[in-house]
Amino acid sequence: MANPTASPLIRISGLTRTYSEGGQPRRVLDQIDLDIQRGEFFVMLGKSGSGKSTLLNLISGVDKADGGQVWVDGTEITGLDERRLTLFRRDHIGIVFQFFNLIPTLTVLENVTMPVELGGGNRSAGRTAGLALLERVGLADRADAFPDKLSGGEQQRVAIARALVRSPKLVLADEPTGNLDDETGEKVLRLLLELTREAGKTLVMATHNPEIVRWADRVGRVHDGKLVVSPVDEKFVL
Ligand SMILES: Nc1ncnc2c1ncn2[C@@H]1O[C@H](COP(=O)(O)OP(=O)(O)OP(=O)(O)O)[C@@H](O)[C@H]1O
Ligand SMILES: [Mg+2]
Repeated sequence: MANPTASPLIRISGLTRTYSEGGQPRRVLDQIDLDIQRGEFFVMLGKSGSGKSTLLNLISGVDKADGGQVWVDGTEITGLDERRLTLFRRDHIGIVFQFFNLIPTLTVLENVTMPVELGGGNRSAGRTAGLALLERVGLADRADAFPDKLSGGEQQRVAIARALVRSPKLVLADEPTGNLDDETGEKVLRLLLELTREAGKTLVMATHNPEIVRWADRVGRVHDGKLVVSPVDEKFVL
């Protein structure tokens, strides 16, 4: 659970993102302020095109704000150059996407351990961590398979293992169940929650599925460039 006495893991201040469309500026996010606590599960809802992915991409530094700041674990993301940003993201943030984004030419285990390889980590320790995570997501016996042999739910479980392999404090998930049927989606969600909760990680998830809110600590609704945050009244616990 979130520890209210610790500094927030994410601090967002006056965050603004404007896209230009046909020469006309369009402000997708307008002066957003938000703190997300350590260990928190924060869900972002909002209509398609409201700016959920944009906000996640600004938190990971994949996208650039045109105003305001984002801090993650005390580091100002918005102040890092590209190289430092890449390193910071690799070391501290795990990302799960809607379309899994596995590399088709790598095996399941190679996909999971890829962040360790990229980060120059110890290969055999990476392999051990990767296999342990595959065990947790129920896919240890598929370690040597290629992603195209796996179902959507299985591929997303691999992507979850990959996001967690370097034990990041922060996990960002953009519609992680958006491409799965309801039942598979719920299983994948539970797994993601379990694995992040037990390790005290912070999980920020964008979704269209209002059902997910019942698992969350807080929910933010993106609308007209603003974010309205509310607590979750009837919370489900795992
Ligand atoms: N690179 C870009 N150039 C111009 N406009 C963009 C760009 N990226 C996003 N947008 C616009 O910003 C708005 C917010 O997009 P975003 O992808 O954040 O929405 P979303 O809430 O994630 O939607 P969805 O639920 O469909 O995933 C949209 O209107 C989109 O067209
Ligand atoms: Mg999106």
